Amino acid sequence: MNPPELESVAYWLAVAQQDCGRTEARALLRQALGCGDSVLLAYPERAVSAAQASALQAMLAARRAGQPLAYILGSREFFSREFVVGPAVLIPRPETEGLVEWALALMANRPWQVLDLGTGSGCVGVTIAAECPLAQVTLVDSSSAALACAAQNAARFAPLNTECLVGDWFSAVGDRQFDCIVSNPPYIADQDPHLQQGDLRFEPLTALASGADGLTALSQIIAAAPRYLRPGAYLLLEHGYDQALACAELLHAAAWHEIQCRPDLAGLPRLTGAQWRA
Ligand SMILES: C[S@@+](CC[C@H](N)C(=O)[O-])C[C@H]1O[C@@H](n2cnc3c(N)ncnc32)[C@H](O)[C@@H]1O
Repeated sequence: MNPPELESVAYWLAVAQQDCGRTEARALLRQALGCGDSVLLAYPERAVSAAQASALQAMLAARRAGQPLAYILGSREFFSREFVVGPAVLIPRPETEGLVEWALALMANRPWQVLDLGTGSGCVGVTIAAECPLAQVTLVDSSSAALACAAQNAARFAPLNTECLVGDWFSAVGDRQFDCIVSNPPYIADQDPHLQQGDLRFEPLTALASGADGLTALSQIIAAAPRYLRPGAYLLLEHGYDQALACAELLHAAAWHEIQCRPDLAGLPRLTGAQWRA
């Protein structure tokens, strides 16, 4: 290779690929160059400036140190929308799309009041608001840094029918009642070794861990939700693969109706919903 080629898209793609594989290398190069995939493919000989090369090297170093790709890029796709994310929020997971699909199917385009508890990036509540413009969606998180991220996404995808409130679960909503509460709360046990592995090491602990058995937040939400639901309204929860039975028992003991569990994309029982009839 002669010197000009050393500074080309093809060269840096090859360098990045050695570090993190083809798909991630392309994503990082798109970010460093501010271009789309078509440019990478069509112009492999295009020059990469010194500033772009140094931005790419910084991103590769962060990736080598284990930083999640979504935090390096500052975004993650969810329900076909590119959500802004940062270290203050959980990185949206594909399995959480099932929670949105369930809510949207129940809503059937009706003008429901929806509460998203523990909104993080806002991926659940903002998507519901964007997909159902007649809905009014309240996004709540106890972390003001997380809520700032949710507000950015709300402003981009559903500015007219979302509101953002900081608070501990229901504390910020006063005596309002909703047609549906959705929540993907923290549900990992405090001592679970997975917290020390992979992307989880970099995500906020308050978004992940919830008590000795991981059920603290789920129990609190199930216990408090009836006061904030209209008769006939729904509570839809995401939880760990081994917590479906515990959730169903908590709901059953509190006299909820229509308790249903649904699998995620991998077939694991990760969503539980129920109706409150008062
Ligand atoms: C598992 S993350 C879910 C984020 C987002 N809804 C998603 O599905 O990607 C849980 C979120 O709950 C928030 N949270 C934890 N404890 C809370 C509390 N007591 N009140 C309100 N939000 C809380 C965390 O800050 C975090 O953003």
